[in-house]
Amino acid sequence: MGKVTILDHPVIKHKISILRDKNTGSNEFRSIIKEITILLAYEASKDFTLEEYDIETPICKTTGYRLSGKKLGIIPILRAGLGMVDGLIEVFPAARVGHIGMYRDEKTMKPIEYYLKIPKDSNKRDMLVIDPMLATGGSACDAIQRLKEKGCTSLKLLNIIAAPEGIKKVQEEHPDVDIYIAQLDEKLNDDCYIVPGLGDAGDRLFGTK
Ligand code: PRP
Ligand code: URA
Repeated sequence: MGKVTILDHPVIKHKISILRDKNTGSNEFRSIIKEITILLAYEASKDFTLEEYDIETPICKTTGYRLSGKKLGIIPILRAGLGMVDGLIEVFPAARVGHIGMYRDEKTMKPIEYYLKIPKDSNKRDMLVIDPMLATGGSACDAIQRLKEKGCTSLKLLNIIAAPEGIKKVQEEHPDVDIYIAQLDEKLNDDCYIVPGLGDAGDRLFGTK
């Protein structure tokens, strides 16, 4: 079963509370999503491999380290996943970015795919799937499945807020995928929104409501 890592930090709790607040505007919301994403990016890359190389500081010669593992692919689930792209690119500027478009049907709550474009060599890359919200898990599971169909074998999922239901679904359907989240919330409500959550992440990011 994939492991779940939760960022446990007082500053994260502080920032998530600002995200939750319905009076927080889109600009501040976007900026906090980016900040938290940067921390998630560091956490999700703890197992990345390094190689040594020689460097010279102004003081002496020493050993430097550089990332030496597979190249990286970042896959935001549209639309809200776009809010996390800048944070990841800041940490991994050489990463390639693919996009998968999914929206939840308002009646069935099942994800509907409307776009898919990923780097050609995605099957050789470590792929980070990003979406602020993991609710029922339907969108994440379908996105991961599509990437597997395209040959991807190394996948991680990064979310800002997750519900237990979504984590369970990903663990059951994709036991090879580790999940990194900033906050585990209580449950889903009858409309499949995360409680207490932060509402519709896409609308909050882009001011569409
Ligand atoms: C939201 C969110 C996830 C999905 C999570 O997207 O960004 O993609 O819901 O829900 P799930 O785990 O139950 O699938 P939404 O469908 O609202 O589309 P949007 O990003 O275009 O607003
Ligand atoms: N998608 C969102 O944006 N928010 C939720 O709470 C659930 C799904």
